[in-house]
Amino acid sequence: MSGFTNQVAVIVGGSSGIGRECALLFAEHGAETLLIARGRERLREVVDEIHSNGGNAQEFPADITSPDQVKQLADKIFSQFGRVDILIYGAASFYLSPVEMMDIDIAKHAMEVNYWGAVHVIQAFLPLIRNSQRKTIVLMSSLSVPCTPPFFAAYAATKHALHGLALSLRQELRPEGIRVQMIAPGPVETPLIEEYIHREMYRLPPGIPVLEPKKTAHQIFKAVSRGKQDVVIPNRMGWAARLAYAFPSLVESYYRLSVPDWNNAIQNEIEKQRRNHHQTSRTLQPNRMTTPSELEE
Ligand SMILES: NC(=O)c1ccc[n+]([C@@H]2O[C@H](COP(=O)([O-])OP(=O)(O)OC[C@H]3O[C@@H](n4cnc5c(N)ncnc54)[C@H](OP(=O)(O)O)[C@@H]3O)[C@@H](O)[C@H]2O)c1
Repeated sequence: MSGFTNQVAVIVGGSSGIGRECALLFAEHGAETLLIARGRERLREVVDEIHSNGGNAQEFPADITSPDQVKQLADKIFSQFGRVDILIYGAASFYLSPVEMMDIDIAKHAMEVNYWGAVHVIQAFLPLIRNSQRKTIVLMSSLSVPCTPPFFAAYAATKHALHGLALSLRQELRPEGIRVQMIAPGPVETPLIEEYIHREMYRLPPGIPVLEPKKTAHQIFKAVSRGKQDVVIPNRMGWAARLAYAFPSLVESYYRLSVPDWNNAIQNEIEKQRRNHHQTSRTLQPNRMTTPSELEE
């Protein structure tokens, strides 16, 4: 056991990918792990796995785009546990498109989940965090903030918004001893990106690895243990991220130099998307908000 024994860790997006691996890891280190997502069945699977490993976990199905559902959840957790030591916000929606063909409903939904969901959760859970010892909020950002490739306008905008939230929030909460950590992984092999990764719209230049969710969760666990404020995963990309913040045009130059015929590749992709535009917008329907009765099913 470690310093997390009996600490209450809430993991928003704990039913899949990075959140799931974080849940398993924090539970393994003694935390009381509370998982939030919409799908009850996938939540239950993670909770069962934690129980069979001897850990403590509970599932709390909710749609974090609904402020009412989030408030009810926070009240429920408050009455059961009285506090939250670590809040990891990792719910997300991913969408790539040229700006010209961007489906506004899908892009807005991504903003609802990736940014406004974080705001709802922080507002509802702050009183619980204040009641705790560790007082930690972890926001899952992305390497696509400093290193934004083409077709990432919708998703990267949500993560830029989250980045702004984190920078401001950490100054507001520091006087109370609440720590706001920001974690920015590069691509991680999870269901979030499986529809896009390695396709024309998501080309990875040399030197950008696709990470495993388990290893990513280990880095997050280490960052929370050490209270590190800004973390890029993998660590060795930290220098590239800092450079890209200072000189954004370097990102485009790197793609241009390292991916053969980069300009043509972009134009071909845009042309393809233009042709498929109507079909694409029919198949990628935005997730509407899940109702409380559906969560009970
Ligand atoms: N994978 C990557 O390449 C990558 C790279 C950088 C950063 N990140 C960030 O890391 C975090 C975790 O990503 P991941 O790849 O592990 O994603 P994932 O496997 O798709 O998991 C996303 C989680 O969010 C939940 N979720 C989605 N919409 C929700 C909603 N409206 N209400 C409540 N829960 C919701 C999902 O469960 P339900 O669908 O059942 O609700 C699921 O548990 C995200 O913030 C992502 O942006 C990922």
